Parts: sequence; structure tokens; C-alpha cells
Amino acid sequence: MAAERLDKLLASTGRWSRSEAKRLVREGRVRVDGRVPASAEEKYDAETAALTVDGEALRLAAHTYVMLHKPAGTLSATEDGRGRTVLELLPEEYRRRGFFPVGRLDKDAEGLLLLTDDGALAHALLSPKRHVDKLYYVRVQGALDEADRAAFAAGMTLGGGLHCLPAELRILSAGAESEALVTLREGKFHQVKRMLAARGKPVLYLKRLAMGALTLDERLAPGEWRELTKEEEKKLK
Ligand code: URA
Repeated sequence: MAAERLDKLLASTGRWSRSEAKRLVREGRVRVDGRVPASAEEKYDAETAALTVDGEALRLAAHTYVMLHKPAGTLSATEDGRGRTVLELLPEEYRRRGFFPVGRLDKDAEGLLLLTDDGALAHALLSPKRHVDKLYYVRVQGALDEADRAAFAAGMTLGGGLHCLPAELRILSAGAESEALVTLREGKFHQVKRMLAARGKPVLYLKRLAMGALTLDERLAPGEWRELTKEEEKKLK
């Protein structure tokens, strides 16, 4: 890992701002490998440097990953003048660390949202070339049938000529309203809603259940979150 400025390393813990970190160094409260650094501009490797503040060892986790059960009514953005964002559901510490949501869920949608400060992993998961599966539970108006399933499997072309990759529609129940599981291998804007609207079955409710190897922890109520386990982190990478 590349060496980073000491104030940046201290701020990456979310406990101090960059200017507070500089002050800690000036006050001689920080040690690196047992020595008092001359300035906050010195650069160290987060993986090998042993940092202490007031004698307390700091854990410089390279990156952190959070699974959020996004509630309806929140925006998948870091900042938005128009409403409450998912970042506001996390403690300040994560916001300071530059957390952001990996991909988007519509404002009215619920379910699994991954948040992290790991730009490289986010890029890899969202890359169209990677085809990371996303699994959704949907409730729609109208009776889903075999023709809908076949249209999804064939790869639909939406209005404006937007071509979708083959997708899976597993019908759970069909009636005046129907329920289904949808698996997409891509993430175009409003894709599930647009595909189902094109079949004349508008979405009433949408919840993401999984993204790649990561599954929503059903013990999390909407609005609740937790950090990923090491096992989940490994699977994701
Ligand atoms: N498809 C949609 O239509 N909305 C989402 O939020 C996610 C997938």
C-alpha cells in the first residue's frame, strides 16, 4: 500500500479531522513505531506503521464495509439537498471517513445497500464487465406469467432501444398482484421497474436481497446496519 501523510492516516480512523490530527502531532501526542514524528506531513504505510495517540494503539483498517437495510424514503447518495440520504443513517465517524453507497437503490426501494470507503472495490463491483448478479424481490400489479419469464430470459429491449442482458424472473405467486424474484446481471437506471412496466406489470414494491455473494441479513430491520464479517468481506472480493 502507498505511503500516506500522517494527518491523513489519523483522519482515516474517523476519530479526528485532518486539522485535529495535525494538532495532535504538533502537541507530541502521536508516536510512530515508538518515535515522535517531526511533522504531520511525514508519510507512512498504513499496513506496517505502528501508530499510537496518547499511548493508545490505533487500528488502521485499510477499508471498512457496511451492510445497510435501506429503508424506503432515503436517497442512495452522500449528500442531497432534496431529502434524507442513506449516509445519515450511519454514525458521523463513517461520514468523516468518506463512506459512500456502492450503486443505487431508488428512493422508494428497500433492501441491501453496501457502503464503504473502498473506491477500488466499488468500481470492481459496479463495472459493467463484471456482471455481478443482483437479486430483487418484487410485488407487481397484474398476473405474471410464462410470457413475462420468457421475455426476461431472452433479454428485453426497452423504450429508446435500451437493450438488457438476459435476466431471470422466478414467479412466486400470480393474481391481481404478483410476487417474483428477479436476478439481473447489470444495473441500468430503474431497470427492474422499467422491465416490468414494459410487460404492463408496474412495480408496487421493490427490495434488493443480494448483490454478488453478499446477502441481506434479515435480522436487520429497515434503517439498521452492521459491518461485514471477515467472511463476507472475503466473499465480496
Ligand atoms: N431496479 C429498479 O428499478 N430500481 C432499483 O432501485 C434497483 C433496480
